Amino acid sequence: MAEIGRDIAKAKAYLEIGNLVGIPTETVYGLAGNALDPDAVAKIFSVKNRPSFDPLILHTSDMSRIAQFVKEIPGPLQRLAKRFWPGPLTLLLPKKDIVPDLVTSGLDTVAVRIPDHPLTKELLGALDFPLAAPSANPFGYISPTQASHVNDQLGTKIPYILDGGSCQVGLESTIVGMEGDKVTVYRLGGLDISKIESEVGKVQVVAHSSSNPKSPGMLKSHYSPSKPFIIGDLDLLISEYSSKGESFAVLSFRRCFPQVSEHLQIQLSKAGDLAEAAKNLFAAMRTLDSRDVSLILSELMPEVGLGKAINDRLKRAAVPEEEKE
Ligand code: TXA
Ligand code: MG
Repeated sequence: MAEIGRDIAKAKAYLEIGNLVGIPTETVYGLAGNALDPDAVAKIFSVKNRPSFDPLILHTSDMSRIAQFVKEIPGPLQRLAKRFWPGPLTLLLPKKDIVPDLVTSGLDTVAVRIPDHPLTKELLGALDFPLAAPSANPFGYISPTQASHVNDQLGTKIPYILDGGSCQVGLESTIVGMEGDKVTVYRLGGLDISKIESEVGKVQVVAHSSSNPKSPGMLKSHYSPSKPFIIGDLDLLISEYSSKGESFAVLSFRRCFPQVSEHLQIQLSKAGDLAEAAKNLFAAMRTLDSRDVSLILSELMPEVGLGKAINDRLKRAAVPEEEKE
């Protein structure tokens, strides 16, 4: 298993010799390697079992470093960067040659983000290269929001995980770029679209799928637990599956279900707070996935604010095995 600790110098030393390290961010944990070293980047793809057509996000510590990697930052995206970085926002920008093609899967844009986590900010500041870091989960599985999640799934493949506690946002970053002069959201995430719109006006949201070349990695099957995950009206689902004699666990927004054992149900936010629900989502999915039941029943969140991004993840988790891309 990997060593888990808070030693930034140790994480730095591993990264400098081309090794991978699990790093905390405010969104989810990342599997980080030197983004300018094609061998380290290749290791990321192999450790995650990730197809090479799915590009990575480049993480850096401040705006002044970004000009090394990108040709320009269009005006509206500059405004977003100034307002929301460090934070759960990723920008798609025209890349310079210094960024290896492996990072961008051959695309001419690179995804860039300044994450907001004290340990990782300090680590990035101490390094003289940016970090490529996808979420630190095997390809297609639920993203990790605690160091132990990373260790459970990738611990035998990496030497070190920097432990920054539980991720405060809990959903991956919102990915934004330009289509012509239109600000475009390619992945719903931890930064609510209404906040983006308050800065740059109305944006377009492009539904992502593997057939969309702008976001080749956004496959339907992302975020899946290993058990069938069924979404609907929980009262109906619970009575249907009880009468079939199936064993199940229940994931709800705020309601408790007295007919289901306490150990087999999780409320994402009893107070009905979507930010709290987002923060708890992936850990709750993991916990229920580990219970001795044959399926997980869930409901959607209210389709407002972060509820939209949470629902996006729930719907992807619910794609039946045979339809997974
Ligand atoms: O919050 C996050 O964004 C986390 C933390 C670790 O920073 N990272 C993360 O990375 O979620 P990953 O690799 O799991 O998801 C990145 C997504 C992929 O779906 C990929 O397709 C998309 O970003 N992406 C990266 N570069 C792109 C590009 N040049 N054009 C379009 N999509 C891109
Ligand atoms: Mg991911």
